[in-house]
This record gives sequence, structure tokens and C-alpha cells, in this order.
Amino acid sequence: MSNPRLPIGVFDSGLGGLTIVKAMQELMPGESIIYYGDTAHLPYGDKSAELVREYAIGITRFLCKKGVKAIVIACNTASAVALDAVIAEAGGLPVFNVIEPAAREALAHSESRQIGVIGTKTTISSGVYPRTIAGMAPEARVVQKATPLLVPLIEEGWLHNTISREVIEAYMSDTGFFNIDALILGCTHYPLVKDEIAKYFKRNFTHKVEVVDSSLAVAEAIRNALTAANLMNEAGKVEHSYFVSDFSRNFEDGAKLFLRQSVSFQKAEN
Ligand code: DGL
Repeated sequence: MSNPRLPIGVFDSGLGGLTIVKAMQELMPGESIIYYGDTAHLPYGDKSAELVREYAIGITRFLCKKGVKAIVIACNTASAVALDAVIAEAGGLPVFNVIEPAAREALAHSESRQIGVIGTKTTISSGVYPRTIAGMAPEARVVQKATPLLVPLIEEGWLHNTISREVIEAYMSDTGFFNIDALILGCTHYPLVKDEIAKYFKRNFTHKVEVVDSSLAVAEAIRNALTAANLMNEAGKVEHSYFVSDFSRNFEDGAKLFLRQSVSFQKAEN
């Protein structure tokens, strides 16, 4: 049985997972977090499933050694291809992923049962979203598309300029999306361009399309599960630490984009 006062371990390929951290800090202000961004190996989104699994296992070992009470895979790509490997490595600790909460949230907003998903190439080719949604609502139809250019644009801080708008339009105008009424942002970077994507649908569609940013849904799922397991930190001191596998000042600048506050990173000694 884990100790409620221990921190929660959260990892991502880089900085995108900080969108989940931000939602967790809002919803669970009493929880300490140890974040690990695998900046030496990013992006995960176009790597093989085998390699992403290998990285995820190494990070899980690192977080377990630090003494965490639960592990959050705050990366769609790693959630898509490495969930089983992380569970096997985590020695019975609760492991959370970002796919199921997003799928549930999209279904809750979809009347037409036509749901769009965008994500990295590896997430999309894994088929994890169609599979998960089919398990929850067999009648739903899922249209998915890899949108790899969005990650570098977001990391460049190009969230609301003509280039980001044009890239969003080029991806979203895919005819497959014409009848969807919910779109899952299946990558932890994408919440930063949620507004622009929502505006695209408002401008071009006559019906409403709910753009699903899973970060709050993920944080809610974690809070509910920890509460049910009596693992919420009710009284302990709150402390967050941020590790990266490769350190550069750029990451601290980039982190401000995702967290809207400055944090210091330490290089992880595995
Ligand atoms: N964090 C990844 C995800 O959510 C996107 C960035 C990457 O490709 O590493 O899929």
C-alpha cells in the first residue's frame, strides 16, 4: 500500500506533459509532483513503439526509485504504445494514461457518434483511440489524422499566427472530419492551440464541434482514483520537482508556455 504523502510521478517525451501537470495542480493543489521530460529522446511521435516502450520503462524505473505513489503517462504516444510496459514495471503502483479520459470526454459531448482524433504519427497508427472508443461505444465512428507539424509549431510558440492558422486549416479541412461533432486533441501539446482549432470549426462548420482537451479530464480521473484508494495527500507538504533527460535553458523557456509560470529543471541522473 502506497503512502498518500508521496509525490505523483508524471512523465512525457518532453514538455507537453506539463499541460497535464497544470491541470493536476489546479485540481489537486495538495499533491506533490515529480515530472520527467525525456528531452534527450523527444519527439516520441514518429519513433517505433519498441523504442518508446524502452524509454518509458527506463523513466518508470527512475520515478519508482524516487518513491512515487502513482505514475501518470502524460503523453499520448507513450500511453498508446507503452501502457502495459509501464504497468509491468511499476510494481503495482496505480498507472494513469491520457487515452481513456479523453475518449470518455469526447463521447460525453458527441450526439452524432462521429468523433475526430488528431495526434502524432505513432499514436494514430497505433489505433488506440478507435479501439478504446469502440470498447466504450461500439456504435461510434472514429476519423483520425496524424498532425505532426503542430508539435514544432507549438514549441516555437506559434500559437496564434497566420502560419499556425494555415496549418490547422490544412489538417482540419480533411473531408473525413465534415460530420464529426467532437474532436480529441490526442497529443499533450495541442491544448495550446485548442482555441485556434475551435475557431476553425466555428468559421467553417454550421454545426458545433466540441474540441476535447483531455488535460482536465485526465486530472479528474486521477483525483477520483486516488480518492477512492485513500491516496490523496490531505496534510503533507507540497513540493514539485522537474527533471529532464537532457538539459538546456531552452526547455525552461519552453516550460513557461505550457505551465504559465517559471520552473527550474534538473538533469536526471538515471
Ligand atoms: N508528448 C507527445 C504526445 O502527446 C507529443 C510530442 C512527441 O512527439 O514527443 O503524443
